[in-house]
Amino acid sequence: MTVTDPAAQKPRVVSGAQPSADSLHLGNYIGAVRNWVQMQDDYETVYFIPDLHAVTVDYRPEELAHRTRVTAAQYIAAGIDPEKSTLFVQSHVPEHAQLAWALNCITGFGEASRMTQFKDKTQRYGNDAATVGLFAYPTLMAADILLYQAGLVPVGEDQRQHLELTRTLAQRFNHRFGETFVVPEGMIVKETAKIYDLQNPTAKMSKSAESPNGLIQLLDDPKVTAKKIKSAVTDAGTEIRFDRENKPGISNLLTIHSTLSGRTIPQLEADYEGRMYGHLKVDLAELVTSFITPLRDRTNELLADPAELDRILAHGAKRAREIASVTFKDAFEKMGFLPLAGGF
Ligand code: TRP
Repeated sequence: MTVTDPAAQKPRVVSGAQPSADSLHLGNYIGAVRNWVQMQDDYETVYFIPDLHAVTVDYRPEELAHRTRVTAAQYIAAGIDPEKSTLFVQSHVPEHAQLAWALNCITGFGEASRMTQFKDKTQRYGNDAATVGLFAYPTLMAADILLYQAGLVPVGEDQRQHLELTRTLAQRFNHRFGETFVVPEGMIVKETAKIYDLQNPTAKMSKSAESPNGLIQLLDDPKVTAKKIKSAVTDAGTEIRFDRENKPGISNLLTIHSTLSGRTIPQLEADYEGRMYGHLKVDLAELVTSFITPLRDRTNELLADPAELDRILAHGAKRAREIASVTFKDAFEKMGFLPLAGGF
């Protein structure tokens, strides 16, 4: 029997979140990044910043590089260790766009037209503003995943359909050109990890929120954060009880508390028995600010030395390419392209 590297046998995980804001928000952290940090010990983890995806809708070129660095710095500050995980920027690994092209050529026009996120965004931005890039967003995402032969992809519910398409394309490619890609499984974020808008607690916390007061940005001044929590919308009645239907505001505050304090919802309900909404808000403001403050300080420290941050990302891109280039070469050869003598 050959001796294999035990690290190589861990299932590989791939995920990313777009650099489309000046800061990640608490929903990103609780719904995604926190989970990614935990997965580093049990999986071989590949995390990247999908900047190619960020330009599929209107954006400002002068903001993109900064937002990419901020996102990377926040991942690291939150506990993504660039030695344990392969952490990189999508546009630094050209195989993503190259493989996406190949996948475009085995994706049906009708199939891509059925993607609900594309339909929603087209409606939001108007048909003329929707680009071919936006249309091809899911095939680029499939390339992101398939290049790394990922077994598992942790994503939010809104990405479920894109993941299904990824699986379909992997199977189609394998069937047509021969066994090439691992068919990945989705790992959809649980409802309990969903954080809602503080001002509108039936809507998911999102950077496109109507009011900035509903959004806890991880780079906000902690005083601002405390204020936002204290002015969160609450519900009729006085009882502190988890009830998504009838008490969406209080349920959201309890969820945030539970994810940061580690106390279960029933424990919290018992803790707050007979106490008022205000008590919960005061405690939660304290809990969130003491969580956010070191994270913000570490992020700012990393951003203060952009050259070092860029070196970390270059190191990540190099590691990523070692995996991606092998898959890419195999896929293109199977498709029948003439290999470049001497390699790319
Ligand atoms: N589309 C994902 C989102 O908006 C981001 C993304 C791009 C992604 N490529 C990916 C997530 C590959 C997981 C794997 O959330």
